[in-house]
Amino acid sequence: MHEFAIADTDDKAVLYADLLSALDGLTAGEPDPVANMANAAALLWEYLPDINWAGFYRLIDGELVLGPFQGKVACIRIASGEGVCGAAAATRETQLVDDVDAFPGHIPCDGASASELVVPIMVNGVLFGVLDIDSPSKARFDQIDARGCEKLVALLGPRLMRR
Ligand code: SME
Repeated sequence: MHEFAIADTDDKAVLYADLLSALDGLTAGEPDPVANMANAAALLWEYLPDINWAGFYRLIDGELVLGPFQGKVACIRIASGEGVCGAAAATRETQLVDDVDAFPGHIPCDGASASELVVPIMVNGVLFGVLDIDSPSKARFDQIDARGCEKLVALLGPRLMRR
């Protein structure tokens, strides 16, 4: 069993620092990308409040393909440029969407989703895929979430390429 401490706090900066440390411990010695994505999704699912989906899409042959996640069954393939995930993949920029209904082309996998944060995963300048987190509350995610998840992904990315 892995031992890590996640503070029970409303201070998001503290929470993300703890999550980064926990993710480091969970993935540092593990070369398998599926195992590392699976544990990352489980970690976010357990400790980020007010979310209904957390997981990964991997860029394969120009398409985003569903990876390890927590939440309801989701769309399996997303073309680059489609939906929030495809926008993150096409622009290589984090997408912070306060209201998914106002995002042109949003793909509704779970009708409960109201806001969404999608962070591209870049490894050595190449897009590996995206981290996608959905919430049933509008405007659930802010810049602290965006920067916190970007740090998580910066740590995790190189650990998805090892075999
Ligand atoms: N809503 C996403 C699709 C993936 S699900 O949220 C898991 C999108 O618009 O790209």
